[in-house]
Amino acid sequence: MNQYVTGAVIKELREKNKMTQLQLAEKLGVSDKAISKWERSRGLPDITLLEPIADAFGISVTELISGNTIHNENVSANMLRSKFYVCPVCGNVIHSMGEAAIHCHGIQLVPLEAEETDEKHMIFIERIEDEYYVRIDHCMTKQHYISFMAAASSDGMQLVKLYPEGSVEARFKIRGVRRIFFYCNRDGLFSIDPVKGIDDKESGYDDSQERRELEKAADKLFG
Ligand SMILES: [Fe+2]
Repeated sequence: MNQYVTGAVIKELREKNKMTQLQLAEKLGVSDKAISKWERSRGLPDITLLEPIADAFGISVTELISGNTIHNENVSANMLRSKFYVCPVCGNVIHSMGEAAIHCHGIQLVPLEAEETDEKHMIFIERIEDEYYVRIDHCMTKQHYISFMAAASSDGMQLVKLYPEGSVEARFKIRGVRRIFFYCNRDGLFSIDPVKGIDDKESGYDDSQERRELEKAADKLFG
């Protein structure tokens, strides 16, 4: 984290906001030469300018100083674009509907990037009535284990915490689930479309009630 705003951050934000040095200068009531000096590390903006600079870029003073800006274009926060943050020290799991500046144990956490499952992290999904029964073939030692599983739909998130020496299984209500996530403390975050991961692919549809009705109608029509 920076201790004060840097010229590089000002330049980056100005360019991101498609502003010229002169346009920014006019907003702040300083000369464009002053901006140019800040950006070339030949000077620093006065402390009274921190708030106006942050305002000009539509960010907070904290973001300006830390250089970590948050961009959430979708303010309605789609669950399917959820981010997970895991503290490497204590294993704390934080779910966010968008980008956020999250600290745990004094560490700024980064949003995890999910990978497709691999042969060392195989997932088995079964439909049992209105639930997905999810199992992962993985060890559960204190050193290497699956620490949580989650199922995301557009309007909900089901999250199950797992513990070393425990079993690697979870049940999720199927309704609307589009993505299943799980996190290995060593190998990171994985995700899969549940329909792709399902053992019985034929039954990998989303809404059993609707399907049953369709099947009933098809039976009537086609005998
Ligand atoms: Fe692993």
